[in-house]
Amino acid sequence: MTETPSDTAPDDRNAARAFFRGVIALSPMAIGGNLPYRRLCREFGADHTCSEMIFATKLLRGGEKPLLRHHASEAHFGVQLCGKDPAKLSDAAQIAVAAGARFVDLNFGCPIDVVVRRGAGAALLKRPRKLAELVTAVRDAIAVPLSVKIRSGYSEKKINAVEVALLAEAAGADAVGVHGRTRAQRYKRSADWGIVDAVADALTIPVLGNGDILTPWDLALRRQQTGVASFLIARGALIKPWIFTELAQGRAIQYTPPMRWRMMRRYYDHATEYLGDDLRGQQRVERFLLWHLQFWHRYRHYSEDDFQAVQPASLMQAREKRVTGTPDEVLLASADDADHTEIWRRVLTRDYPTDDVTDDA
Ligand SMILES: Cc1cc2nc3c(=O)[nH]c(=O)nc-3n(C[C@H](O)[C@H](O)[C@H](O)COP(=O)(O)O)c2cc1C
Repeated sequence: MTETPSDTAPDDRNAARAFFRGVIALSPMAIGGNLPYRRLCREFGADHTCSEMIFATKLLRGGEKPLLRHHASEAHFGVQLCGKDPAKLSDAAQIAVAAGARFVDLNFGCPIDVVVRRGAGAALLKRPRKLAELVTAVRDAIAVPLSVKIRSGYSEKKINAVEVALLAEAAGADAVGVHGRTRAQRYKRSADWGIVDAVADALTIPVLGNGDILTPWDLALRRQQTGVASFLIARGALIKPWIFTELAQGRAIQYTPPMRWRMMRRYYDHATEYLGDDLRGQQRVERFLLWHLQFWHRYRHYSEDDFQAVQPASLMQAREKRVTGTPDEVLLASADDADHTEIWRRVLTRDYPTDDVTDDA
């Protein structure tokens, strides 16, 4: 677990920075970062959790309130906000803090067209001074730790993460999360950790490095090659929430089908507690579980030799498609919708083997 600034004066910036030091966090994710899933990731050891991205304007109009909710186990829960108006972003940040956010994160990396067209998210990477103005406004409005999340740049011709991060630091950010890809790259290439390292080198405040951490060896490599000490994990956690245990222990844990059934059932139980066991609640739980299966089915166990063989490309890109093995191994690796419906049925009715199950949560 991380140090927290819980008992410190609100304006103690050193404590706010310490809050982000040496952290392995669940990266903010729309849909994927739903409350039951965050709870699961906490059980597996995620230090920080964060809400899905919330539009400041929507929050101010009274929408998106459910996204502020968090589970009691989320001791270091943050709210991620997106917007381009300083006053609105500040007011929204105050609402988030009043709802229990232990930190606020500002999204300056969202690549989605409708967000960028409106001048928010990654569009602000093209306007570093405007971005800094937003950080200053939110800094003045709240006392809890404040982070920003950026990309390496807007496009390959506009790699400016160091400049943007320095301005964010000067404007009062306590930490900067850096996803080592441009807006234009989306996921087409491996993340550029050289840029992440350059930002860490330039700043005094902690940098949370982000991109393609799927195994303990990815983490070890980034720690060895860069000065980055905190990390944000996104797709790795969607594919295998137990990645947090793997990263803490520095070893890959082979999750057998019985362990995976049990993990899925635990998600089902958390989601049911959150969304309800009535018809409507269960329909929503089903939709979430099917959504998660799009990621869970991609799990493959990799050894350190596999990792060394494909280096420096990430295993994320090298993933092999075909799986052979027991019927459950094949079923759980299937991308097929009908198979996912069958998995949902089996999770719901506990129609799966429970013998020999120990897990590392
Ligand atoms: C389903 C999904 C939803 C995401 N939603 C958000 C979001 O709301 N806010 C954000 O800052 N990043 C979001 N991201 C980006 C991730 O936080 C992360 O920066 C990116 O996936 C790179 O990390 P990874 O290589 O570990 O996946 C999302 C990613 C995924 C896969």
